[in-house]
Amino acid sequence: MSEPILVTGGTGVLGREVARCLLAPGREVRILSRRAKPVGTPYAWHTGDLRTADGLDAAVAGAGVIVHCATTLGAKDAATTRTLVEAARRAGAPHLVYISIVGVDRIPLPYYRAKLAAEEAVIASGLPWTVLRATQFHDLLFRGLEVQRRLPVVFHPAGFRFQPVDSREVAQRLAGLALGDPAGRAPDLGGPEVRDVTDLARLYLRARNRRRPLVPVPIPGAVGRGYRAGHHLTSNATGHRTFEQFLADRT
Ligand SMILES: NC(=O)c1ccc[n+]([C@@H]2O[C@H](COP(=O)([O-])OP(=O)(O)OC[C@H]3O[C@@H](n4cnc5c(N)ncnc54)[C@H](OP(=O)(O)O)[C@@H]3O)[C@@H](O)[C@H]2O)c1
Repeated sequence: MSEPILVTGGTGVLGREVARCLLAPGREVRILSRRAKPVGTPYAWHTGDLRTADGLDAAVAGAGVIVHCATTLGAKDAATTRTLVEAARRAGAPHLVYISIVGVDRIPLPYYRAKLAAEEAVIASGLPWTVLRATQFHDLLFRGLEVQRRLPVVFHPAGFRFQPVDSREVAQRLAGLALGDPAGRAPDLGGPEVRDVTDLARLYLRARNRRRPLVPVPIPGAVGRGYRAGHHLTSNATGHRTFEQFLADRT
C-alpha cells in the first residue's frame, strides 16, 4: 500500500479528473472538499475548508503527496495555499504539487497575483514541490460563452488570442507529476492551437447552431496589454485535444 495522496479541489473541473487518474488498487486517494461525503464515493473523503483550516490536519495526516487544485474566487489563493503549506509541514514532508497558470508573473490580474504568491509559498515551503503552469481550459472559454447564451450578441475581449487546453490532459500531466519525483517548475502545458478569440466564439456558435454578432470589448490597462501581448500563451503546445473537438463532445 503506497502513501495516501490528497487532492484539494477534488470536486472541481480539474481536481475531479486528477483524482480519477490517480485512483488505483492499493492507493488511497483523499479528497478535501467543503461538501459532505457523497454516497458511494470511491475516495477517502475529508470535509474541510482551506479558509478556516477546519478538517485540514486530518486530511493531510500521513499523505505522501498533496495535489493542490482548490481555488477560491477573488484573490484568496495565496492565503489558502499558505494555510495548506503550514498543515503539510506539521504533518511531515509530503510532495506538494501545485497547478498554476501561464502568465501569472506577467499579467497583473488580482487572481493571477494571488496565484503567483501561492507559487512562491509552495517554493519557499521547504517541502518537496512541483509547480505546473497551464493555459486556459476549454471549459473556461466554453463557460464564458455559454453564460451569454440568452444575449443577442456575443461579447469578447478585443484583440485577445487563447491557447485553450483540455482539462483532462492537464489532469493526466498533473497526476503523472504527482506520482513522480518532485520536479520543481515543470514545463508549461498549453493547448495545441493559438486562436483569435473571435475564431473560438465562431466555433462555439456553429456548434450551438446559433447566429450572433460578435462584439469586441476593449480591455484597458496593463491587464489588457498583457493578454494582447500573449503573455498567457506558451510555446509548449503539448496538449492534443482542440477546442473544436471539445465542443463536439460537449454540445
Ligand atoms: N480554469 C482554467 O482555465 C485554469 C487554467 C490553468 C490553471 N487553472 C487552475 O486549476 C485549478 C483548478 O481550477 P478549476 O477550474 O478546476 O476550479 P473549480 O472547478 O472552480 O474548482 C474549485 C475547487 O476548489 C475547491 N474549493 C474552493 N474553495 C475552497 C475552500 N475554501 N476550501 C477547500 N476547497 C475549496 C472546490 O471544492 P468544494 O466546492 O467541493 O469545496 C472545488 O473543488 C485552479 O488553481 C486554477 O487556477 C485553471
